[in-house]
Amino acid sequence: MQIVHLSDIHYSDAYFVPEIADSMVDSINRLGPDFIVITGDLTENGFSAEYNGVKQFIDRIECENKILVPGNHDSKNAGYLHFEDLFKDRFFSRSFRNVTVVGADSSQPDLDEGHIGRENYGWIKEAFTGKDFKVFALHHHLVPIPLAGRENTVLVDAGDILELLNRCKVNLVLCGHCHIPWVWNLNNMLVVNAGTFCSSKTRGKTTQCYNLIQADSESSDEDWKVRVSRVFSKGDLELVTETVM
Ligand SMILES: [Fe+2]
Ligand SMILES: [Fe+2]
Repeated sequence: MQIVHLSDIHYSDAYFVPEIADSMVDSINRLGPDFIVITGDLTENGFSAEYNGVKQFIDRIECENKILVPGNHDSKNAGYLHFEDLFKDRFFSRSFRNVTVVGADSSQPDLDEGHIGRENYGWIKEAFTGKDFKVFALHHHLVPIPLAGRENTVLVDAGDILELLNRCKVNLVLCGHCHIPWVWNLNNMLVVNAGTFCSSKTRGKTTQCYNLIQADSESSDEDWKVRVSRVFSKGDLELVTETVM
């Protein structure tokens, strides 16, 4: 099974880089992943024109199973209303074969900080019963990452969410926001951050990239073998981590 995880498109006149975007889309279409998770900041300002532009762009990526959550930039200017029109739910659980993905909107209108909220813990727990490979997708960080400066964008309820996800034996957490690709392994749960997919908003010496996660299991009682790699705009692939869970 192949999952592509991308984030932080920041579709706008100012920051979207078409040449990089084109080569990234070609590279994903060649891979043909089973599903794609996009962890927010689709737009820069949450404006209607930006949403329409990014929708057309995402439609060029060939995959039947696309999963999206909004980021803080998408909720600016009440942009979450456009998100709901174009991409439907901001909180959801979906299953594909033996994979369950729960997505949660961690943004709050016109605030940069992230928050999931106690009112969501119950249904998240319910969604993660069963033996599927479990994926949680959100925009903000669950744990600090390097090069994020004076880290102040970790979820305000990160500790409670980490404990909940660990208790539910979640395999993979996918997030974005700071445009720095990184992986932490916490109690055998991979917390995977994505860089920016195709915007000029890179941090330090990082470049545009997306994550490729390959997860395989012989049967529902077997362990999962998981590989996380980064793919860059020229098509080069870097293996980041390999683990059994
Ligand atoms: Fe961003
Ligand atoms: Fe963000």
